[in-house]
Amino acid sequence: RKKVTLPTIMSLYRKNEPITVITAHDFPSAHVADQAGMDIVLVGDSLAMVALGMDDTSEVLMEEMLLHCRSVARGAKSAFIVGDLPMGTYEISPDQALASAITMIKTGRVHAIKLEGGADMAPTIKKITSAGIPVLAHVGLTPQRQNSLGGFRVQGKTTASALKLLDDAIAVQEAGAFAMVVEAVPAEIATLVTKKLRVPTIGIGAGNGCSGQVLVQVDMLGNFPPGRFLPKFVKKYGDVWGEASRAIALYKEEVKSRVYPAIEHTYPMPKEELAEFRR
Ligand code: KIV
Ligand code: NA
Repeated sequence: RKKVTLPTIMSLYRKNEPITVITAHDFPSAHVADQAGMDIVLVGDSLAMVALGMDDTSEVLMEEMLLHCRSVARGAKSAFIVGDLPMGTYEISPDQALASAITMIKTGRVHAIKLEGGADMAPTIKKITSAGIPVLAHVGLTPQRQNSLGGFRVQGKTTASALKLLDDAIAVQEAGAFAMVVEAVPAEIATLVTKKLRVPTIGIGAGNGCSGQVLVQVDMLGNFPPGRFLPKFVKKYGDVWGEASRAIALYKEEVKSRVYPAIEHTYPMPKEELAEFRR
């Protein structure tokens, strides 16, 4: 497969062909997404929960993101790779953000960075893109700000908040973002915002009027224990947890009952050698 670059993504956008994005957090999850033909692989800070077992994204450190970004970069040879800037590494100033973005590119081996925020982040996005680092913006529900948003709540449900969303989207576009994630907003609003822009929107919980879609890989694969809460927008395309759980339980049973390993899983010794050894 040919390498996906920014011009590839822009050409998909111009052709009105949906841009496919999925998260990955390590070598195998990146490798499989890349081989399945994803346009963009995102090392989201959701890895805090899905790979590190943390409660939310606020805990994950830059050095942890970098380790995972590098593993993803080894697995995704064709996809365009985007790394999330973790909370605390870009909000203080555009200079701090640029320094973090450079670290993400140099040490994380990604092609672009993502950061959360709208009009307030415009000067920061401008600073980073001016240095030649592509920025994927993230508007609507911004999980790093969940405490001030009052939790994971749909954004843009009122006229005022829909207008703010449009404002944010235009601001990050004008600041130079090559695209933006639009998370958890009514489908009609996401469609209208998408139509007003000249850069792609990547929707998650934002309906099919966006220029592309993103999902967290472990969510869409069903790679989580039964009973876990899933947002309404997630479609479970697989049952990876169920399959892993079935296989491990069977392995346990076969070891306990000495069914495994069977003869075909063992190394034979020539009969004469064995006889000699036994004497
Ligand atoms: O961290 C993440 O996985 C994300 C995507 C859901 C957009 O930010
Ligand atoms: Na994220």
